[in-house]
Amino acid sequence: MQTPLRITSVVGARPNFMKIAPFVHAIEAHNASDPARRIEHRLVHTGQHYDANMSKAFFDALNIPKPDIDLEIGSGTHSEQVGRTMIAFEADLDAWRPDWVIVVGDVNATSACAITARKAWIKLGHIEAGLRSFDERMPEEINRLVTDRLSNLLFTPDAIADQNLRNEGVPEARIQRVGNIMIDTLDAQRSRAEALVPADIVRDNLLPGQDTTCERADWQDGGFGVVTLHRPSNVDTRETLEPLVRFLKDAASPRLPLIWTVHPRTEARIRDFGLWEELQACRSIALVSPVGYHDMLRLNMGARLLLTDSGGLQEECCVLGTPCVTLRENTERPITLEAHDGVSRLVGNDIQAIRTAFTDFLAMEKAPNRPELWDGHTAERIVSALINDEVD
Ligand code: UD1
Repeated sequence: MQTPLRITSVVGARPNFMKIAPFVHAIEAHNASDPARRIEHRLVHTGQHYDANMSKAFFDALNIPKPDIDLEIGSGTHSEQVGRTMIAFEADLDAWRPDWVIVVGDVNATSACAITARKAWIKLGHIEAGLRSFDERMPEEINRLVTDRLSNLLFTPDAIADQNLRNEGVPEARIQRVGNIMIDTLDAQRSRAEALVPADIVRDNLLPGQDTTCERADWQDGGFGVVTLHRPSNVDTRETLEPLVRFLKDAASPRLPLIWTVHPRTEARIRDFGLWEELQACRSIALVSPVGYHDMLRLNMGARLLLTDSGGLQEECCVLGTPCVTLRENTERPITLEAHDGVSRLVGNDIQAIRTAFTDFLAMEKAPNRPELWDGHTAERIVSALINDEVD
């Protein structure tokens, strides 16, 4: 019997949970089928997201084991979050020293734990490596650059990501194209989502204060759009957020009723800017709390289109074929764009561009597209690479 390979993997914020679930399950499957080469696994939650509906709900829904430790970092400035994470994660690595640290995505937990691991001389693997928006005003881009620069194995979703890494001088042996791990989760959970009913999801998650007695829409498949917004560039200033709210309320929702799953940051800003009451009064928008994984997947499956600034939703739209009005100036996921046979169009927060895309997409049929290796087996490929790894 060999000494077991020890892996610590890290999650911190909502978009991490659907990426770690398949990895954890692939380790469990590996241990069951190849006990001689068992992996000992420790799951660390940094606690960046802590609300039940931003965190625990995903562990339950995706059957992720309870984290071995929650570092309880919470909210704060970027430096506060990164600094607190590094201090707490260093202590955890001292207490349980792994052969590998695996980080996912591009949140503050990703870069903080990447730096800590490498300073402790522990090998680092990054799942979702090589994505670049080339916009360093995005905190996520900084997190991606730092993490990829330090990683010993870079698990990429597509050929564009591979090329980004090559352009930065990453040695070929470190780049492992494995596909998109989030699509493992989508494939595994799709049938459970199918059994849900959009009207029930709206009713069960409606934010307090909305008049539930007045029918807003019947939320039949194809008869609604879904909105999600959370990026500081869209929600933090009144100059940007107010026209967006007015467009959704006065121009978009009369043509297509909308379900808006409101991120806590966005709700706070809409309230700060005094726009909440008029938005709530709109009869063709349902304001709902952030919904669970299956609920969101079901809404995406039934939606005529999405309006979003989320990177993960761009990818899910790509595979489901739901036209995706992407309220961003750039994307680190160009494979999802129309130019690459995807369904996503970048419109920034320019109202005229949003209006044009919205009108075009209203008339469009769903056009699913699966880039190569987005096949539901990405996590298995990662576990196999770690077991057989020979990189320094
Ligand atoms: C983080 C990620 C972003 C990801 C997003 C998904 C970074 C740099 N950003 O942004 O890439 O797309 O998560 O949601 O890591 N809050 C709560 N409850 C929570 C968590 C946050 O109310 O459980 C509120 C707090 O007021 C907090 C604000 O949301 O200040 C922002 O949270 P934060 O973790 O700083 O970043 P996100 O905007 O969520």
